[in-house]
Amino acid sequence: MVSPMNAHIIRLLYISDAAEGLDEEAVTAILKSAEKNNPPLGITGVLVFGGGVFAQVLEGPERGVLGKYVQVMGDSRHRNCRIVHITTTVERLFEGVSMAALQALPLELAQIAELDAHRKETVPPEDFKNLMNVFFSRLQALP
Ligand SMILES: Cc1cc2nc3c(=O)[nH]c(=O)nc-3n(C[C@H](O)[C@H](O)[C@H](O)COP(=O)(O)O)c2cc1C
Repeated sequence: MVSPMNAHIIRLLYISDAAEGLDEEAVTAILKSAEKNNPPLGITGVLVFGGGVFAQVLEGPERGVLGKYVQVMGDSRHRNCRIVHITTTVERLFEGVSMAALQALPLELAQIAELDAHRKETVPPEDFKNLMNVFFSRLQALP
């Protein structure tokens, strides 16, 4: 069932490159912050790490998720944050998980690399391109 808390939520997946020499201890510290800060923002998700990269899912209210993403982007424990997938949804995939850390298995690392290489379109690509072309044509037609 869709609870009112989940009425308007977004899910964002980003990938980033971990800072050189980052260890388990650093991930534990990140998780501690997340467990403290995420619940009041209604954020749930997962933080996967391994092979020098992070892949994190943040889901929750749009303002909270985007605000947290911008904050996390500025964190020196990683760099090159790139959004790989973003969507609106009414159902959380990580219901009840304020944030959890997982060490990526080899197959998962390959799947993360695959997602990174083929960033998903967030809307039907043709529809999006058609609408952008309409906007572009209108700009060209402006006096
Ligand atoms: C890969 C990565 C993921 C992070 N995820 C979260 C998160 O989900 N929630 C959060 O509050 N902080 C997260 N952080 C930490 C924030 O950048 C920031 O350091 C923290 O929120 C500061 O909070 P505190 O000083 O209250 O502990 C993350 C940092 C990194 C490098």
